[in-house]
Amino acid sequence: MDWKLGMTSATLVMFVAGAWAQEPSKGKVDPKINEQFQKKENVDRFIKSFEGHDREVSTKRDAIVAALQLKPGMAVADIGAGSGLFTRLMAEKVGAEGAVYAVDISKDFLKHIDAQSAKLGQRQVKTVLGSQNGTNLEPESVDLVFLSDVYHHFEDHQQMLASIKKTLRPGGTLIVIEFDRKEGKSSEFILKHVRAGQADFRKEIEAAGFQSADGPKPELKENFFARFRKPAE
Ligand SMILES: C[S@@+](CC[C@H](N)C(=O)[O-])C[C@H]1O[C@@H](n2cnc3c(N)ncnc32)[C@H](O)[C@@H]1O
Repeated sequence: MDWKLGMTSATLVMFVAGAWAQEPSKGKVDPKINEQFQKKENVDRFIKSFEGHDREVSTKRDAIVAALQLKPGMAVADIGAGSGLFTRLMAEKVGAEGAVYAVDISKDFLKHIDAQSAKLGQRQVKTVLGSQNGTNLEPESVDLVFLSDVYHHFEDHQQMLASIKKTLRPGGTLIVIEFDRKEGKSSEFILKHVRAGQADFRKEIEAAGFQSADGPKPELKENFFARFRKPAE
C-alpha cells in the first residue's frame, strides 16, 4: 500500500517535516529535529515528499522563485537545500555564468543534487556540506541566501545567522520562508515542531544584524516569506 494512502494532509505534513522528532521544549529546537535527514532510507522518501502537491512551498515554487528577482550571473546559496527543489530553479535564473551553492548537512541530499545537476547540465550548481555551526562558504561570496523550511531546523540559530551574514556580500539579501506558527490557529504538528512564531524569528534575525527589507512576495497561507538585507556598511 502506498505510504501516503489514508494520511490526511496534516499527517502528511507531519511526516514530511519531521514527525519522528520529539516535541521541543517551548522555544527550543528539538535536539533530534535533523536526525531523520541522516538516514538514507528517509532521505529517499523526503526527496519525493518535499516536491509533492501537499506542500505549499512546493506548489508555490514558481511564485517563490519569481519573488527572488534573480538575474543572470548572480551567486546564491540555498542553505538546507534538501532535495534541490529550489536549487535547480534558481540555477535556471542565474544561468551558466552564475552560481548556486546547495548547502546541506545531509550527504545523501547532496549526492542526489549532484546527480540531478549532472542530468540537467547545471554546472553552476555546487554542493557543499554544511554544519550546525556555519555555511562552509567563503566570506562575502553570495548575493542572496535562501532558507525554505530550514530556519527552525537550525540547532544554533545565532551561529548560523552569524555565518550567513559573513557569507553574504555587503547589501546582500536573506530570504526566510517558514511555517507561520500561530497559537490557537496552527495545526498541532506545527505548534509542536516549530519552536517560535514569525515575530520571534524576525527579532532573532534583526538582532543578528540584518535589516528588514521590502520587495515582491509570493502569496502564501501556511508559510510566511520574509526578506532581510545585510547592511551595505
Ligand atoms: C525541511 S528540509 C527543507 C528542504 C528545502 N529547503 C525545501 O524547502 O524543500 C530542511 C533541510 O535543512 C537541512 N538542515 C538543517 N540544519 C541545517 C544547517 N545548519 N545547515 C544546512 N542545512 C541544514 C536538513 O538536512 C534538511 O535538508
